[in-house]
Amino acid sequence: MRTSWPSGYGHIRFDELDSTNSEARRRAETGEPGPLWISAARQSHGRGRRGKVWDAGQGNLTASLLLRPQASAAMIGQLSFAAALGVVEMVQDFAPEALVQVKWPNDVLIEGRKLSGILLESGEDSRGRWLAIGIGVNLASSPPGTEFPATSLAQLGLAIPSPEEALSVLAARFAYWYGVWMDEGFERLRTAWLARAGGLGKSIRARLPDQTHEGVFEGIDACGALLLNQQGCVRAIAAGEVFF
Ligand code: BTN
Repeated sequence: MRTSWPSGYGHIRFDELDSTNSEARRRAETGEPGPLWISAARQSHGRGRRGKVWDAGQGNLTASLLLRPQASAAMIGQLSFAAALGVVEMVQDFAPEALVQVKWPNDVLIEGRKLSGILLESGEDSRGRWLAIGIGVNLASSPPGTEFPATSLAQLGLAIPSPEEALSVLAARFAYWYGVWMDEGFERLRTAWLARAGGLGKSIRARLPDQTHEGVFEGIDACGALLLNQQGCVRAIAAGEVFF
């Protein structure tokens, strides 16, 4: 697949940053229009979802895309699915034989273990709403002791691209799915994401901040919420964490 860098997208590369998402926020706050990819060889304060630390070792991909999508705050969350599809297609390009799946809301798994996490942050200023899509991909190593088992391409004995090579394929695939989303809306992303979803039709646990629900994973709705079938009653869950 190896494609060229998408036109209209900028890229700025750092040896070290606190967090590429924090840099995206700083740039948004000083009026950066985007779309701009920000990548770093090292992050001193990488952030994961729900306030967790994202500790990415050397050789892994850590990057954020700063965008100003013309859509409501409720809709722009759907772009995490475009990012997850971009990561899946990038990984599959370098590891065509591997089983690469998505896990709601926005993780990418390889052979059932977490390979990539995505963190969306957004804000509003006089230019409108900005969105930072932060993506970490375990190319060379994965952090030990994570709640959901993690791995890396290297740990699976697969050939590993450099973070720059990986980002250039990811940027092209994200640009494709972002174009589809802008032109046609969410449906094609929803279908493509479901075709890659791990645990579909199986019993799962969805953990919300204050409660846990068990049920059969039926799919995602037209907004991206998780559909959990609990003895015939289908519950839509907008935010949470899934365990198989
Ligand atoms: C998760 O918890 O699964 C999301 C992890 C997101 C990590 C990436 S690495 C690049 C960007 N910068 C950060 O500080 N976090 C995101």
